[in-house]
Amino acid sequence: MVVNKNLKTAADGDTKIALPRRSAWQALTRHHETLRTRQLRDLFAGDAGRAERFQLEAAGLFLDYSKHRMTDETMTLLFDLARQSGVEARRDAMFAGERINLTENRSVLHVALRAAPTDTYMVDGQNVVPEVHQVLKRMATLANSIRLGQWRGYTGEPIRNVINIGIGGSDLGPVMAYEALRHYSRRDMTFRFVSNIDGTDFTEAVHGLVPAQTLFIVSSKTFTTLETMTNAHSARDWLLRSAKDPAHTARHFVAVSTNAGAVREFGIDPANMFGFWDWVGGRYSMDSAIGLSTMLAVGPDNFARLLAGFRAMDQHFRTAPLEKNMPVIMGLLAVWYNNFFGSQTVAVLPYDQYLKRFPAYLQQLTMESNGKSITLDGTPVDYQTGPIFWGEPGTNGQHSFYQLLHQGTKLVPCDFIGFSRSLNPLGNHHDLLMANIFAQAEALAFGKTAAEVKAEGTPDWLVPHRTFAGNRPSNVILAEVLTPEVLGALVALYEHSVFTQGAIFSIDSFDQWGVELGKVLAKRIGSELSAATDSGLTHDVSTNALIRRYRRARA
Ligand code: F6P
Repeated sequence: MVVNKNLKTAADGDTKIALPRRSAWQALTRHHETLRTRQLRDLFAGDAGRAERFQLEAAGLFLDYSKHRMTDETMTLLFDLARQSGVEARRDAMFAGERINLTENRSVLHVALRAAPTDTYMVDGQNVVPEVHQVLKRMATLANSIRLGQWRGYTGEPIRNVINIGIGGSDLGPVMAYEALRHYSRRDMTFRFVSNIDGTDFTEAVHGLVPAQTLFIVSSKTFTTLETMTNAHSARDWLLRSAKDPAHTARHFVAVSTNAGAVREFGIDPANMFGFWDWVGGRYSMDSAIGLSTMLAVGPDNFARLLAGFRAMDQHFRTAPLEKNMPVIMGLLAVWYNNFFGSQTVAVLPYDQYLKRFPAYLQQLTMESNGKSITLDGTPVDYQTGPIFWGEPGTNGQHSFYQLLHQGTKLVPCDFIGFSRSLNPLGNHHDLLMANIFAQAEALAFGKTAAEVKAEGTPDWLVPHRTFAGNRPSNVILAEVLTPEVLGALVALYEHSVFTQGAIFSIDSFDQWGVELGKVLAKRIGSELSAATDSGLTHDVSTNALIRRYRRARA
């Protein structure tokens, strides 16, 4: 076994015993055998206090987790597993600024991005909070000057359009937050997001916009990402087709990055660059300057409210006992289905149109974090790690994939997310929307027996088709209304749930080596596609043939 010399952390001792050999894991394996066939109907029938016992409030969110295939004993064993897996020690190590991202030898301190000015978060002996607030202040100055029409483009007109160019964590957080907080956004300004290297994305994003009124935010932690840099160059060309003089780009480009040198080389004035730090992972960066487009859209005060929501959930995660800790409970239940019931996926089903990009955002957060198969000590896992996250806003999903959720052969735990009040009250729409959440969670859990179907007069041959087995688990997450604070708390809830799962799996939830190979190959193939000669292709025969076919077609 090759052991990384950076492996020593405060939490190291807790992960020495391989996951399947931890006593809680073995107890859960035995316990699962006894619980596997138990029905939620029965668990509820014999336990009037179940709903009350398995619910929790934190940071403005309410979680009902009673509709899970578990008992008090299950939860006790899961908490044992969390303790034996060093979840608390690893969490404390994160908050203490230790380099828990072992393979990149970095601290993991996105929690410092939403710290109050009086908080302290240390990295290498230095409190990083003042620096975080300095950047927030500069962002607010820029946001205000653009929102007030004081920042002018090259013709002297105010900026009306903002385009964020970024990908992955430099896109998904901003676009998700913009959509989620659209209610709070400036309606007289246009916000668009370009991520894909497909030229269609850029072309459509600038369609109908006046260059003199357009600001590009080039968002890239590394400032080397192929997609982002290609789009940024196309943006500059687009602007210069009207502006002509390269000096005019200064009024139309700002950058968000950790790479000042590359920003300068691109031609963006460092005065218009907003920095962040290597202790912020891309998929954990929406609270950093990567959130500049969000701040421009909703204003500095609403951005501060968003951060306050994150902070409230951070505080809860950091201080609540495991038994009352919302992200820990959600993480443990995710492990319960993933590793004991063999569930492959989790469906995230927000019943709020503003959260339409939330499942896409969670895909990167969860799968880039926990889609790993090597443990922290360098050995391959012999158990499942992170589940696949996917979803769509309700009620649309009900008319497409819910059939499989209710009657398919797969067990898909669901997270329903809803709000007591709508931001857009309209007749009885909201009651009907919420009725659907409660109905779906109930139908999944309790189903409809053959006897019930038959009693409705259904002919015998049709009874099996109309029967719902039930016993399908879900979380129901509720909040009063979708505010910036609630959005922050919701994202932090999933961040820390992912953390909990990663700690149990003993993996590095903060690296992403799995994206590298494709990048390297794409670079190589990119130059091969335009090569003049047909020789020199040394890929497998399938890839060689595909490249030749494309070359012929493009010629
Ligand atoms: O390819 C994956 C990734 O590295 C993500 O982790 C990151 O969010 C994204 O690319 C964008 O990276 P950057 O912000 O450096 O352009």
